[in-house]
Amino acid sequence: MSGRRHSLTLASPDATCAFAQALGSRLSAGDVLLLSGGVGAGKTHFARCLIRALLLTPEDVPSPTYTLVQTYPGTPCEIWHADLYRLSDPTEVIELGLTEAFESAIALVEWPDRLGDLTPSGAIALDFTPGAAEDTRHLSLTWSDPRWTTRLKGLTDD
Ligand SMILES: Nc1ncnc2c1ncn2[C@@H]1O[C@H](COP(=O)(O)OP(=O)(O)OP(=O)(O)O)[C@@H](O)[C@H]1O
Ligand SMILES: [Mg+2]
Repeated sequence: MSGRRHSLTLASPDATCAFAQALGSRLSAGDVLLLSGGVGAGKTHFARCLIRALLLTPEDVPSPTYTLVQTYPGTPCEIWHADLYRLSDPTEVIELGLTEAFESAIALVEWPDRLGDLTPSGAIALDFTPGAAEDTRHLSLTWSDPRWTTRLKGLTDD
Protein backbone atom coordinates (compact mmCIF):
# COMPACT_ATOMS: atom_id res chain seq x y z
CA MET A 1 0.00 0.00 0.00
CA SER A 2 1.31 3.45 -0.79
CA GLY A 3 1.68 6.16 1.85
CA ARG A 4 -0.83 8.73 2.99
CA ARG A 5 -0.34 12.35 3.76
CA HIS A 6 -2.27 15.14 5.42
CA SER A 7 -1.42 18.77 6.18
CA LEU A 8 -2.87 21.19 8.67
CA THR A 9 -2.21 24.68 9.93
CA LEU A 10 -1.74 25.21 13.65
CA ALA A 11 -2.49 28.87 14.32
CA SER A 12 -1.16 29.06 17.89
CA PRO A 13 0.63 27.03 20.56
CA ASP A 14 -2.83 26.24 21.97
CA ALA A 15 -3.98 24.87 18.63
CA THR A 16 -0.93 22.62 18.52
CA CYS A 17 -1.65 21.50 22.07
CA ALA A 18 -5.27 20.69 21.26
CA PHE A 19 -4.27 18.61 18.24
CA ALA A 20 -1.59 16.80 20.28
CA GLN A 21 -4.14 15.92 22.99
CA ALA A 22 -6.71 14.74 20.47
CA LEU A 23 -4.19 12.51 18.71
CA GLY A 24 -2.75 11.34 22.04
CA SER A 25 -6.10 10.06 23.24
CA ARG A 26 -6.16 7.67 20.27
CA LEU A 27 -2.73 6.13 20.77
CA SER A 28 -1.85 2.69 22.02
CA ALA A 29 1.26 0.57 22.72
CA GLY A 30 3.50 0.23 19.68
CA ASP A 31 2.63 3.64 18.24
CA VAL A 32 5.68 5.67 17.20
CA LEU A 33 5.51 9.37 16.32
CA LEU A 34 8.51 10.85 14.50
CA LEU A 35 8.60 14.61 15.20
CA SER A 36 10.75 16.55 12.76
CA GLY A 37 11.31 20.23 12.00
CA GLY A 38 13.98 22.81 12.80
CA VAL A 39 15.00 24.21 16.17
CA GLY A 40 11.96 25.87 17.79
CA ALA A 41 9.53 24.33 15.31
CA GLY A 42 7.28 23.06 18.12
CA LYS A 43 8.24 19.38 18.49
CA THR A 44 8.69 19.52 22.27
CA HIS A 45 5.61 21.70 22.72
CA PHE A 46 3.56 19.09 20.84
CA ALA A 47 5.11 16.17 22.77
CA ARG A 48 4.67 17.90 26.15
CA CYS A 49 0.94 18.50 25.56
CA LEU A 50 0.39 14.96 24.33
CA ILE A 51 2.28 13.39 27.26
CA ARG A 52 0.65 15.58 29.92
CA ALA A 53 -2.77 14.47 28.72
CA LEU A 54 -1.82 10.80 29.16
CA LEU A 55 0.12 10.95 32.46
CA LEU A 56 -1.19 8.80 35.30
CA THR A 57 -0.16 11.51 37.77
CA PRO A 58 0.78 15.09 36.83
CA GLU A 59 4.52 15.79 36.54
CA ASP A 60 6.85 18.05 34.60
CA VAL A 61 7.66 17.08 31.03
CA PRO A 62 11.12 18.54 30.38
CA SER A 63 12.78 18.49 26.97
CA PRO A 64 15.00 15.37 26.74
CA THR A 65 17.73 17.50 25.15
CA TYR A 66 20.52 16.18 27.40
CA THR A 67 19.03 12.97 28.83
CA LEU A 68 18.10 11.82 25.28
CA VAL A 69 15.08 9.94 26.67
CA GLN A 70 12.47 10.52 29.35
CA THR A 71 9.90 7.87 30.26
CA TYR A 72 6.50 8.35 31.85
CA PRO A 73 3.85 6.03 33.26
CA GLY A 74 0.78 6.83 31.21
CA THR A 75 -2.54 5.67 29.86
CA PRO A 76 -2.79 3.17 28.22
CA CYS A 77 0.94 2.32 28.56
CA GLU A 78 4.39 3.75 29.22
CA ILE A 79 5.32 6.81 27.16
CA TRP A 80 8.83 7.42 25.87
CA HIS A 81 9.97 10.90 24.79
CA ALA A 82 13.29 11.04 22.97
CA ASP A 83 15.38 13.88 21.54
CA LEU A 84 18.11 12.33 19.41
CA TYR A 85 19.80 15.59 18.37
CA ARG A 86 22.87 14.76 20.47
CA LEU A 87 22.98 11.07 19.62
CA SER A 88 26.59 10.12 18.91
CA ASP A 89 26.01 6.75 17.24
CA PRO A 90 22.88 4.99 15.92
CA THR A 91 23.69 1.91 18.04
CA GLU A 92 23.01 4.10 21.08
CA VAL A 93 19.33 3.88 20.11
CA ILE A 94 19.41 0.19 21.00
CA GLU A 95 21.38 0.80 24.24
CA LEU A 96 18.85 3.40 25.34
CA GLY A 97 16.12 0.77 24.98
CA LEU A 98 14.30 2.76 22.34
CA THR A 99 13.98 -0.07 19.82
CA GLU A 100 12.25 -2.19 22.48
CA ALA A 101 10.05 0.75 23.46
CA PHE A 102 8.94 1.06 19.82
CA GLU A 103 7.20 -2.32 20.35
CA SER A 104 5.84 -1.95 23.86
CA ALA A 105 5.27 1.75 24.54
CA ILE A 106 4.03 4.95 22.92
CA ALA A 107 7.15 6.65 21.58
CA LEU A 108 7.64 10.30 20.55
CA VAL A 109 10.96 10.94 18.83
CA GLU A 110 12.46 14.36 18.09
CA TRP A 111 15.24 14.49 15.44
CA PRO A 112 14.19 11.05 14.13
CA ASP A 113 16.59 11.31 11.16
CA ARG A 114 19.19 10.01 13.64
CA LEU A 115 17.41 6.63 13.72
CA GLY A 116 18.55 5.70 10.23
CA ASP A 117 17.82 2.03 9.54
CA LEU A 118 16.21 1.68 12.97
CA THR A 119 13.23 3.84 11.96
CA PRO A 120 10.10 1.72 12.52
CA SER A 121 8.16 1.25 9.28
CA GLY A 122 4.82 1.55 11.09
CA ALA A 123 5.58 5.01 12.48
CA ILE A 124 3.77 8.21 11.60
CA ALA A 125 5.93 11.20 10.65
CA LEU A 126 4.94 14.69 11.80
CA ASP A 127 6.91 17.50 10.21
CA PHE A 128 6.59 21.01 11.68
CA THR A 129 7.48 24.05 9.58
CA PRO A 130 7.15 27.78 10.33
CA GLY A 131 4.05 29.54 9.04
CA ALA A 132 3.51 33.12 7.86
CA ALA A 133 2.85 34.48 11.37
CA GLU A 134 5.13 34.05 14.39
CA ASP A 135 2.73 31.69 16.17
CA THR A 136 1.69 29.71 13.11
CA ARG A 137 3.06 26.30 12.23
CA HIS A 138 2.31 23.97 9.34
CA LEU A 139 2.15 20.33 10.19
CA SER A 140 2.45 17.60 7.63
CA LEU A 141 1.59 14.05 8.64
CA THR A 142 2.78 11.10 6.56
CA TRP A 143 2.31 7.40 7.13
CA SER A 144 2.02 4.12 5.30
CA ASP A 145 0.59 1.84 8.00
CA PRO A 146 -3.23 1.83 7.55
CA ARG A 147 -3.71 1.92 11.32
CA TRP A 148 -2.93 5.65 11.17
CA THR A 149 -5.70 6.25 8.65
CA THR A 150 -8.09 4.88 11.29
CA ARG A 151 -6.43 6.79 14.15
CA LEU A 152 -6.75 10.09 12.27
CA LYS A 153 -10.35 9.67 11.17
CA GLY A 154 -12.35 12.70 12.35
CA LEU A 155 -9.19 14.49 13.48
CA THR A 156 -8.15 15.69 10.07
CA ASP A 157 -10.93 16.88 7.82
CA ASP A 158 -10.98 14.39 4.96
N1 LIG B 1 1.65 27.07 16.61
C1 LIG B 1 2.66 26.73 17.44
N2 LIG B 1 2.87 25.42 17.74
C2 LIG B 1 3.88 25.06 18.55
N3 LIG B 1 4.74 25.93 19.14
C3 LIG B 1 4.59 27.23 18.88
C4 LIG B 1 3.55 27.68 18.02
N4 LIG B 1 3.63 29.03 17.94
C5 LIG B 1 4.66 29.40 18.71
N5 LIG B 1 5.24 28.33 19.28
C6 LIG B 1 6.40 28.42 20.19
O1 LIG B 1 7.52 27.86 19.54
C7 LIG B 1 8.37 27.26 20.50
C8 LIG B 1 8.60 25.81 20.11
O2 LIG B 1 9.62 25.30 20.93
P1 LIG B 1 9.92 23.76 21.07
O3 LIG B 1 10.82 23.59 22.23
O4 LIG B 1 8.63 23.01 21.06
O5 LIG B 1 10.72 23.50 19.72
P2 LIG B 1 11.41 22.15 19.22
O6 LIG B 1 10.88 21.88 17.85
O7 LIG B 1 11.26 21.08 20.23
O8 LIG B 1 12.95 22.60 19.09
P3 LIG B 1 14.30 21.76 19.39
O9 LIG B 1 14.76 21.21 18.06
O10 LIG B 1 15.24 22.80 19.90
O11 LIG B 1 14.03 20.68 20.38
C9 LIG B 1 7.66 27.36 21.86
O12 LIG B 1 8.18 28.47 22.56
C10 LIG B 1 6.22 27.60 21.46
O13 LIG B 1 5.50 28.34 22.43
MG1 LIG C 1 12.61 19.93 21.33
